[in-house]
Amino acid sequence: MSGRSPGRIAVLISGRGSNMHALIDACNSGALPAEVCLVISNRADAEGLRSAREAGIETACIAHADFPDREAFDSALVARLQQAQPDLVALAGFMRILTPVFITPFAGRLLNIHPSLLPKYPGLHTHQRAIDAGDSEAGSTVHFVTPELDGGPPVLQARVPIQAHDTADSLALRVLEMEHAIYPLAARWFLQGRLTLDKQGAHFDGQKIPANGLHYRPPVNADGAAAGSRP
Ligand code: GAR
Repeated sequence: MSGRSPGRIAVLISGRGSNMHALIDACNSGALPAEVCLVISNRADAEGLRSAREAGIETACIAHADFPDREAFDSALVARLQQAQPDLVALAGFMRILTPVFITPFAGRLLNIHPSLLPKYPGLHTHQRAIDAGDSEAGSTVHFVTPELDGGPPVLQARVPIQAHDTADSLALRVLEMEHAIYPLAARWFLQGRLTLDKQGAHFDGQKIPANGLHYRPPVNADGAAAGSRP
């Protein structure tokens, strides 16, 4: 982030875009002193692409199917992103495996949100896998992106208890609510220069972040309940 201009965030999505909207809403409310300068989707029919456009945000569709291989797709993404000059690139439900062609130019300013307590359950079907394993909690992790799939250093993690009657869908809803809190917060820390990545790993205010990331605690309201949580 340079000068007095707000931080510029580019967001990559493939679908619904609720995490993208959490970032946009946080920018609009001032909780995140930044602007979403570009939203890119690899799918023209992504719901989030349409809603970003309606919110007046610049959008682009770069369809992976139009490219012969991952590297060609990744270099088209890089070229479009570089025009937008983002300070931070946030993957928000972007369901493509990225190669070093994409990751290297944005190393250290590339974050992802993943719906599990990494390093548990990289990849897909995270909630069902947590339920099937009999885990007592699930959650979400914001992490720096490295070439290892869902394997970059965790930054911030929110935990959600798994209840006896939970299905993958019911659990996903509660985890998503946490995702909408932790992604804007991690983005804010990053743009404030509090969150950094170097060869030793991820750091917060100069201190090494633990292997599972910092533990998010939802703000507590006057009734002692987590603010924003469902009854
Ligand atoms: C979110 O739950 C996000 O953590 C997950 O996709 C969902 C996107 O929802 N990401 C991944 O699984 C990436 N490996 P959204 O489009 O409503 O933000």
